[in-house]
Amino acid sequence: MQSGSEIIVIGGGVIGLATAIELRLLGAAVTILSKDSKAAAGHAAAGMLAPQAERIPTGAMWDLCLASRDLYPEWIAKIESISGIDAGYWPCGILAPYYHAQTGIDWLDDRSIRHHQSDLGEAVVGGYYYSAEGQVDNRALMRSLLIASQSLGVKFGDGVEIVNIHQSHGRVTHLETKNGDIRAEHYILTTGAWSQQLVPIPVVPRKGQMLSVLVPIEQRDNLPLQQVLFGEEIYIVPRQDGRIIIGATSEDVGFEPSNTLKGVKQLMTNAMRLFPLLQQFPLLETWWGFRPATPDELPILGASSAKNLTLATGHYRNGILLTPITAKLIADLVWHQHADNLLATFNWQRFDPV
Ligand code: GLY
Repeated sequence: MQSGSEIIVIGGGVIGLATAIELRLLGAAVTILSKDSKAAAGHAAAGMLAPQAERIPTGAMWDLCLASRDLYPEWIAKIESISGIDAGYWPCGILAPYYHAQTGIDWLDDRSIRHHQSDLGEAVVGGYYYSAEGQVDNRALMRSLLIASQSLGVKFGDGVEIVNIHQSHGRVTHLETKNGDIRAEHYILTTGAWSQQLVPIPVVPRKGQMLSVLVPIEQRDNLPLQQVLFGEEIYIVPRQDGRIIIGATSEDVGFEPSNTLKGVKQLMTNAMRLFPLLQQFPLLETWWGFRPATPDELPILGASSAKNLTLATGHYRNGILLTPITAKLIADLVWHQHADNLLATFNWQRFDPV
């Protein structure tokens, strides 16, 4: 594509913002359209960068996750230098405590794991430590990406609801929106859990409820938790400002909004079992979000059935982790028509019945 070519990114979440920035830096004229950017899963996440703790199996997804984790420090520095806003990147390490003994050379027994972290619940019998993993403050990252894209001149249509993506002869001709028709040379779909409302690809919402507590001010100089705890049934993510994020349920209930007593009780019970000190801390907030899940739990990345529509959706539990690599590979594909080998596995045709 040539400098000034017009690209519309559909979806104002973390993937859409990051991809828009990469394309803008290459010289594109980019507009982000979104129905409700506040609903994006990137706001609801915990921000863990955790392919090992999430036990991603080796293969294409593992390679994609590691490539993205490796990009993080440099990518964050770039976004922060454009926006001037700290994104809260913290390679703090992740400890994965277990209630049932495992084997293997990396296994930490009861004594060793308590050496890594004091005050773990008494049911913990050991675990693993992943020194290369960490977190980013996903809300700060969203702010940083938004300001970076605005300062680069990305245009925004927030509150623009797309009714239909019109196609003819294998190309998108225009977007029909409630505010009128909109056209560009190329379109990128980054609408996460809402993708199926616009294109026939199998992405469904998987609800996650979350909550946070706040470490009292007198304990903030020496936070009781300075690494992520990734338990068998709960994760606990301490932020440097004293918040502790606790997640998450995984519910197949469509777009059902709100926290439920059952969901919040499950989070509280499991969190206090893993790290009992939490019971003393004031509850700060509860919220929920919708992960974009595909049948094989892998993202859908790359070309679509229309020549000028590219897909970047379905990141399920790993959207924040996969943002830098997704933005880079999709921008390269759209701008330079370069399809990196890392993309091959994630094509939409794997779900095509024909
Ligand atoms: N990445 C953690 C979650 O989706 O709950």
